[in-house]
Amino acid sequence: MSEAIPTRVGLLGWPVGHSRSPAMHNAAFQALGLNWEYLLLPVAPEYVADAVRGLRAFGFAGANVTVPHKQAVMAGLDEVTVEARAIGAVNTIVNREGWLVGHNTDALGFLRALREAGVEPRGCRAVVLGAGGAARAVVYALLAARAQVTIANRTVGTARRLGNEFGALFGARVLVLPLTMDLARVLVAADLLVNTTSVGMARPGDPRPGADPLPAGLALRAGIAVNDLVYAPLETALLCRARAAGAQTVDGLGMLVHQGAAAFELWTGQKAPVETMRAAAGGGSET
Ligand code: ATR
Repeated sequence: MSEAIPTRVGLLGWPVGHSRSPAMHNAAFQALGLNWEYLLLPVAPEYVADAVRGLRAFGFAGANVTVPHKQAVMAGLDEVTVEARAIGAVNTIVNREGWLVGHNTDALGFLRALREAGVEPRGCRAVVLGAGGAARAVVYALLAARAQVTIANRTVGTARRLGNEFGALFGARVLVLPLTMDLARVLVAADLLVNTTSVGMARPGDPRPGADPLPAGLALRAGIAVNDLVYAPLETALLCRARAAGAQTVDGLGMLVHQGAAAFELWTGQKAPVETMRAAAGGGSET
């Protein structure tokens, strides 16, 4: 007797070879005894629309979407959630009998990871470093959770645009600063610092290995929680600096696992085995 064909999900991206998602999701499917499989789906930018149609054609239950396709996939979907539309990125597609819905689980994953670490975003004074794609999900999540948000970015104009856009959306005042010593006056009163920049990420040929996004002389107070979204390495220079200052540290594995867990729950309708996923994501390859 032949074994039933597994239900398939996959990762659309370019490249996708270093992703931890297959290990994380396949371990979760196995733990729950589901005959599902998670495949790598490398798709060159010119084929994104074909790939999205292919999800329907091949009867995939859904997909994750990563760089550089998080915006481009939207055009091929039947529906995009309000949250994903506002963040401007889809990282999860759910196929409901040929009707493709785009979600963003990064914001929820970020909040779940924070709360798991005992950090309550509601009412907290948060400083977000960076104003790119990852920052959009984080700032959205923090404002939705009613935190007070300051954005600090190397290019202050990008931060200002993000602050204005999300400030208007949530009826909140978002403070914007350059990534300089100006930050000192905000950090003395901040409860949470989140690094969404790529500074500190291990990359082959990195000109500044082990770099940290904060200006060198800037002090962190012991009462602050520091969350670095970089997860390769898990122990970043920023987190070492925070720990040395007596601050609470939250590494990037939590958000990686919880955005995946939220996607898993959307696809399967079952509660994700978070600890299984964490163990599978924590080991393995570099990124
Ligand atoms: P992602 O989607 O991962 O957020 P991105 O959209 O390219 O990636 O955004 C990268 C973020 O990291 C930006 O905020 C970028 O700052 P700029 O807007 O000034 O480019 C920030 N970043 C990248 N390299 C940096 C560096 N060496 N120093 C400071 N900030 C950096």
